[in-house]
Amino acid sequence: MTIPWQELEQAAQQVVLNAYVPASGFSVGAALLDESGTVHRGCNVENASFSLTSCAERNAVFAAVASGVRPGGVRALVLYTPTEKAVSPCGACRQVLAEFMPAQAPVRALCKGPDQKEWTVEQLLPDAFAMKEGG
Ligand code: THU
Repeated sequence: MTIPWQELEQAAQQVVLNAYVPASGFSVGAALLDESGTVHRGCNVENASFSLTSCAERNAVFAAVASGVRPGGVRALVLYTPTEKAVSPCGACRQVLAEFMPAQAPVRALCKGPDQKEWTVEQLLPDAFAMKEGG
């Protein structure tokens, strides 16, 4: 499947504007492609009770699931931060990505500047926990 990187990048850059970040001021946007070619988006949402914060990547995956996407159905994800350097997905998000993306699916991190990073899901979380024998 050809990945429309430019469309994903634009979606991530748009949704980051909706980030709700009163605690950190650190906005994150995520856009993903599902197996049918639909793009889903998420931004980070913080809360006065800090531990309730929900990351952009997980919110994008959960939005996709609410539209009917199932494990393995997320084919690519772009993470965007308006920073000078690209950032890496947090550990919790890696576990969620591993559940809904194939091991070889790409995750790309972009930022305001020219810096960018790209990994496969397996590179982000080798030997991921899965609730079945053999991982
Ligand atoms: N955050 C994300 O949205 N994704 C990540 O992978 C790392 C962190 C958010 C959570 C919090 O709102 C802010 O960035 C600072 O940690």
